[in-house]
Amino acid sequence: MLKVGYFQFRPLFGQVRKNLVKVLKALEQVDADLLVLPELAFTGYYFSGREETAALSEDPERSDTVDSLVGLCKARDMHIVTGFAEKKRDKLFNSSILIGPEGLVHTYRKLHLFSEEKNCFDPGDLPLQVDEVRGAKVGMMICFDWIFPETVRSLSVLGADIVCHPSNLVLSYCQQTMLSRTLENGVYAITANRFGMDKRPHGELKFTGKSQVVAPKGVLLNRAPSQRTQLFVCEIDVAAARDKSITALNDIMGDRRPEFYDALGK
Ligand code: ACM
Repeated sequence: MLKVGYFQFRPLFGQVRKNLVKVLKALEQVDADLLVLPELAFTGYYFSGREETAALSEDPERSDTVDSLVGLCKARDMHIVTGFAEKKRDKLFNSSILIGPEGLVHTYRKLHLFSEEKNCFDPGDLPLQVDEVRGAKVGMMICFDWIFPETVRSLSVLGADIVCHPSNLVLSYCQQTMLSRTLENGVYAITANRFGMDKRPHGELKFTGKSQVVAPKGVLLNRAPSQRTQLFVCEIDVAAARDKSITALNDIMGDRRPEFYDALGK
């Protein structure tokens, strides 16, 4: 059994250090193998443009924020997946990083940018990947990636047992849709959303909370309230994500007919 969960909170825009301290404090006693934090958990979300994004982003390989999180992973012997504003030379990515006691394991860069994110970030330029955490295969995607079923499908074809999904959701459709994503792919999904608002001079956005853990076959194990801080951890059996049968004669991975799906490559 694996202990997995999320921390739903309200990051303050631009207050990287304060947000980090909030996370470190909230997780200082946590007992988990894998914990997921929201998208852009330390910077906040609603940037005014590239200049502001650049000022608040960090290179995860030379980041005080990542170093502190690695320290937490060492102290609690766990892994964290968190949203992260990534600066790499002249590029800016809305990224998700997998961190463990041994340091930074992998960086995923959001493939499908939402709305005004297109004015602030470069689109992800790395293939989807699955990494091993305590014997479980873990994939990452970020928020709006959910609306493209190809994202969870690709991670599932790569062998993901658990899809970690840091989010800053503003639309209302995702949480329910993720039940279908887990059913059609036979995977676990952990959506870690934020709540509260980013009130900026150029506008404001309200985030929907309702972080959740969903088991294969669309079983909702837990859903947080909309507008409240919540730390949640539960035990899951990774073996449930390796049984892809839906009837005695149907296997949702084995029965796929990719030779007839050429249109998806377009
Ligand atoms: C989103 O992708 N943050 C809505």
